[in-house]
Amino acid sequence: MSDGPALSNLSTETRHFDPPAELAENANVTAAAYDEAKADRLVFWETQARRLEWTTEWDEPLQWEPPFAKWFVGGELNASVNCVDRHVEAGNGDRVAIHWEGEPGDTRTVTYADLHREVCKAANALTELGVSQGDRVMIYLPMIPEAVVAMLACARLGAPHSVVFGGFSSDALRNRIDDTGAKVMITADGGYRRGKASALKPAVDESIEGTDVDKVLVVRRTGEEVPWTEGRDLWWHDLVDGQPETHEAQAFDSENPLFILYTSGTTAKPKGILHTTGGYLTQAAYTHHAVFDLKPETDIFWCTADIGWVTGHSYIVYGPLANGATQVMYEGTPDTPHKGRFWELVQKYRVTIMYTAPTTIRTFMKWGDDIPDGFDLSSLRLLGSVGEPINPEAWMWYREHIGHDKAPIVDTWWQTETGAIMVSPLPGVTSTKPGSAQVPLPGISVDVVDESGSPVGNGGGGYLVISEPWPAMLRGIWGDDQRYKDTYWSRFADMYFAGDGAKKDDDGDLWLLGRVDDVMNISGHRISTTEVESALVSHPKVAEAAVVGASDPTTGQAIVAFVILRGSASEAAEDDPDAGEALIQELRQHVSKEIGPIAKPRQVMLVPELPKTRSGKIMRRLLKDLAEKRELGDVTTLNDSTVMDAIGDKVAAGSSGED
Ligand code: PRX
Repeated sequence: MSDGPALSNLSTETRHFDPPAELAENANVTAAAYDEAKADRLVFWETQARRLEWTTEWDEPLQWEPPFAKWFVGGELNASVNCVDRHVEAGNGDRVAIHWEGEPGDTRTVTYADLHREVCKAANALTELGVSQGDRVMIYLPMIPEAVVAMLACARLGAPHSVVFGGFSSDALRNRIDDTGAKVMITADGGYRRGKASALKPAVDESIEGTDVDKVLVVRRTGEEVPWTEGRDLWWHDLVDGQPETHEAQAFDSENPLFILYTSGTTAKPKGILHTTGGYLTQAAYTHHAVFDLKPETDIFWCTADIGWVTGHSYIVYGPLANGATQVMYEGTPDTPHKGRFWELVQKYRVTIMYTAPTTIRTFMKWGDDIPDGFDLSSLRLLGSVGEPINPEAWMWYREHIGHDKAPIVDTWWQTETGAIMVSPLPGVTSTKPGSAQVPLPGISVDVVDESGSPVGNGGGGYLVISEPWPAMLRGIWGDDQRYKDTYWSRFADMYFAGDGAKKDDDGDLWLLGRVDDVMNISGHRISTTEVESALVSHPKVAEAAVVGASDPTTGQAIVAFVILRGSASEAAEDDPDAGEALIQELRQHVSKEIGPIAKPRQVMLVPELPKTRSGKIMRRLLKDLAEKRELGDVTTLNDSTVMDAIGDKVAAGSSGED
């Protein structure tokens, strides 16, 4: 662990905002839920599980053999039927499931009946490709309705999907394909981003060479020419469109794997987080109902996340669709073709509930109040935040400029591993405080403990842990039970260690303080320092690298890399500042290519040495001080205390390549 939790950065916040009376009166969930869950946690979750349609009722709610859980043991259901068929059967086939908006402004309206037809056709197509229960299917798609259809078609067949964010590189994609052992890939020619077509298919071609993938299903989105391998590549419209519009879905065991989603850990190898069906869907649906107070007949929900992250899985696909929601799905970036695009969409579709990330909110703050002020946002009645701690200033701006002082904000803490929201205000119950995620949801047991694992009292700080199993919890790391145990269950006895620092205020409300391990949080996305370091040292001119997440006013944290060059490269950079600058840009680009543009360092500093302890461990804490331009902390454990002076001089003198 590099740093202890930054307990000192918690400012004393005294403002609080009670729920609007009308919302509280009509809230889906009231304070009684906390009491119900407290009286019997398992009975509470069984009640929530009955929100779903089960073909076979479970025998027992939970089987817990730490750290392995099974929820709703013996129960059978189909996730796709729960998200689609049952709404059509209930007479809601004409309800819009997705108002889709492409970045160029093209639109599609997908009703639940449409979604049902498309999912059935896609399930029939995948069956024709040989996909059946247990087979892994890769999905690498832009934000188009086919992404939702593809996920639900896999779920319908009991074949776990593994969605990879379209911004990841071909190398990152290949690692994930290898790890899952998938044979089928669903992708597109490309998607639209920042006003132009951005290709996906070439990265797929690069990534699958030498893997087990032998079928590639390609959605035509941009119409650009793509490389094609006959016999392996198939157009979605050729294979899917002609399929029968019905598909008899089979029910699967509650613990049938639903998806594998990769996330960064503290090593260079991402972890395949495994989620299963019954428990995951129960908590995704319940939390969406409780935290967003969704009224499926009248609300228009919009989660701005990409489908490649867990937020997209749980709050675009499984939670909202299980609840029969109508939602907005947007393909592009918030600034294309203009910086008011999000607000234009809120106005156009009369969005009532919006769920986005602090980094996005801070970006809008930077762009200026007049942009959202120019649109009619009066339809918004509830706002959500996720992905990183939200600073009180951004929270207040969100409340005033987007929520017009009436829409409550729910700051939701959770992780890829937790599957669904764990800590959040309830909008009809909680008096919200700017910057606090506040309380565990009913049925969820979260605590803050000290180094020895003892709970801290109010006013104390330490590590966030989850002390009881929860329905949507990860069931393991794909293919690596040992890593699952080591990462989450070895730090504290019988408690899940989340990797986050947290504090309880005097009222017992929770304040999240960021990661306490070597994981950075860049614009709400997790990237490990080691992952970026190993990408850097894979460059032939790099001898050694150390990476830190330095605080950044917009992205929360930004990647700052300290690099020692190999002999001749070092001399060349030393002799010629232009060559040094060119190399810095080359290294930034190299990381972008190896991992993806989200991992591109904000700065690369060429340094002669790195600060190390006597045992050779890099002291990232000191590099972080330097990157954040702070006075250096304790240097007494350094092997050679003059090193920091040498690095400091170099950093002060040189360029770091920041855009
Ligand atoms: O550090 C916490 C931060 O994001 C991490 C989880 O990242 P990921 O698995 O990518 O999932 C992001 C979306 C659920 C956490 O360990 N985090 C997430 N939400 C919050 C947060 N930190 C503070 N406040 C939040 N609301």
